Amino acid sequence: MSGWWCRISPSPLLLLILISALSPIVISSIISGGNPNYGDALSKSILFFQAQRSGKLPSNQTISWRFDSGLSDGSSENVDLSGGYYDAGDNIKFGLPMAFTTTMLAWSVLEFGRHMPGGECDNAREAIRWVADYLLKASSALPDALYVQVGDPVADHNCWQRPEDTNTARNVYKVTPTNPGSDVAGETAAALAAASLVFRHIDIHYSNTLSTTAEKAFAFADKYRGKYSDSLSSLVCPFYCSYSGYLDELQWAAAWLYKATENSSYLDYARSVSLEHECSYHSEAIAKFREQAERFICSVLPNSPSITVQHTPGGLMYKMDGSNLQYVTSSTFLLTVYAKFLKASNKTFSCGSVTVDGSILRQHAKRQVDYILGDNSKGMSYMVGYGDRYPLRIHHRGSSLPNLKLKPEAIGCDDGFQSYYSANPNPNILIGAVVGGPDQYDEFYDDRNNYAQSEPATYINAPLVGILSYFAASFKS
Ligand SMILES: *[C@@H]1O[C@H](CO)[C@@H](O)[C@H](O)[C@H]1NC(C)=O
Ligand SMILES: *[C@@H]1O[C@H](CO)[C@@H](O)[C@H](O)[C@H]1NC(C)=O
Ligand SMILES: *[C@@H]1O[C@H](CO)[C@@H](O)[C@H](O)[C@H]1NC(C)=O
Repeated sequence: MSGWWCRISPSPLLLLILISALSPIVISSIISGGNPNYGDALSKSILFFQAQRSGKLPSNQTISWRFDSGLSDGSSENVDLSGGYYDAGDNIKFGLPMAFTTTMLAWSVLEFGRHMPGGECDNAREAIRWVADYLLKASSALPDALYVQVGDPVADHNCWQRPEDTNTARNVYKVTPTNPGSDVAGETAAALAAASLVFRHIDIHYSNTLSTTAEKAFAFADKYRGKYSDSLSSLVCPFYCSYSGYLDELQWAAAWLYKATENSSYLDYARSVSLEHECSYHSEAIAKFREQAERFICSVLPNSPSITVQHTPGGLMYKMDGSNLQYVTSSTFLLTVYAKFLKASNKTFSCGSVTVDGSILRQHAKRQVDYILGDNSKGMSYMVGYGDRYPLRIHHRGSSLPNLKLKPEAIGCDDGFQSYYSANPNPNILIGAVVGGPDQYDEFYDDRNNYAQSEPATYINAPLVGILSYFAASFKS
C-alpha cells in the first residue's frame, strides 16, 4: 500500500477554525527561479524526527549517530513507556508537546500529503507511527491514568549527556482522576484521532485502535477537569506549563474526534465550548469558526488594519524571543490551509478595507518559509543541513557530543559541558532541525548557550512539514 494514501485526496480538513466541506484542489505548477528547494527542505524536515527518537531504533534507521536509549522507560511503574520523541535538545519525553507535534504532523499529511513528492508521505507517516505507538502505550492505563512524561526534567537539564547515556531518574508522571490534566489528555486525544485518519486507508486495524483510544482519552480529559500544571507543577513548569487553560485542547480534541469518528456528538461538543478567556463572544455556529479564523489572519497580515503581530525588519513574524520560529511555523501553516480553502472555494474576505484572497495568504506564507530557508539579510538558513550557511552550534545534547561510535564510553552528567562551552561546530549534524531563530532585529547568535535561538524542537518542524509540502508541489525544482 506504500504511497497510495498520499496520492488520493483525503477529506479536507480545516477543523476547529472551519468545519465545512472543501473540495480538493490542484495547485498549479509554477516554475520560477530563485526559490528555495522546498522538496529538499521537506525531506530534511521529516528526517529530523528520526534523530529525536527514543527507544529501540529499527535496523533501517538512517541517522547513524543515534542509538537505542530509554529502553527501560516506564519500568518504575511496571509499564512499557519506551519509544516516542525527545522534544528538543534535552532527553525528556514531555507528553504535551509530543502530542501537539503528532497532531500537526498528522494534519500536515492529511491536508498536503497528496502533494508530497516521492516517498516523503511514507516517511512522514512513519514519523507519525513512531510517536502514535508511544501515545498508545501512554494511554494503556486509561481510564485510571494517562502517562504524560518520562524523566526528571530538572536533573536532566542540569546534565549535558547523550540520550544513550542518560542516568538521571527516569521518573514516570501521570494525570489521574484526582490529579487531572484535561489539557494534556485533550491534546493526546487530538493526536490519536488525527493519526487514526492518517492510517484509515493504510491499516484499518491500527486506525481503529487509535480512534477508540482517542475516545477514551477524550472522555478522561472531559470528565476529570483541571490543568496539568496545577497537578504536576514544577515537574512540567516552566518547561511546558498550561497557559490558556484546557478548554482549547478539549475543543481541538472534539473537532478531531468528529473528523475521525463522524459521531456528531463531538461536533456538538466542539460548538458548545466557548473560550471565554480567549474570545469575547460565544461560538454558536460554524460561521463563527470562520470569523475567528479570519480575525486571526487579519491579526497576522502586514497590510491589515488590525495587525497585532510584530514583524522583524526583514519581514519575519515575531512573537517572542523563546523559540520564536515555533509561532512562525504554526501560524504559517494556518495561512497555507486557509489559502488552499479560499482558492478551492473561490472566496475572499476583508480585513477592514483590505480584501484578502488566497494569493495574498500564500505570498505571506512564502515570505515566512523563504526567510527560514535563507532568504534573509544574513543569508542564513535556520534549518540545519539546508543551504550553504546554517547554525553549527545548536543547543542539542546528542548533536553536540561525540557519538557512541567515536566515543563508546559513557559521558557523565557533567562531562559533556566541555563540549557545551566549546566554540567548535557540533560533531553530529542534526539534518532538518529548525532552531528557535533570530531575534526581533533579525540577529542570530550561533551559540549553544543561547538556547532561545539555537535549540530545535519537534513542534517547530511538525507544521513546517505541511508548509513545505504545499510549496514543494507548486515550485518544482
Ligand atoms: C523501517 O523499519 C520499520 C520497522 O521494522 C518498518 O515498519 C518501516 O516500514 C521501515 N521503513 C522503511 C522506509 O523501510
Ligand atoms: C457518540 O459519542 C458519544 C460520546 O462519546 C457516545 O455516548 C455515543 O454513544 C456515540 N454515538 C455513536 C452512534 O457511536
Ligand atoms: C470566482 O469569483 C469571481 C468573483 O466573484 C467570479 O467572477 C468567478 O466567476 C468565480 N469563479 C469560479 C470558478 O467560480
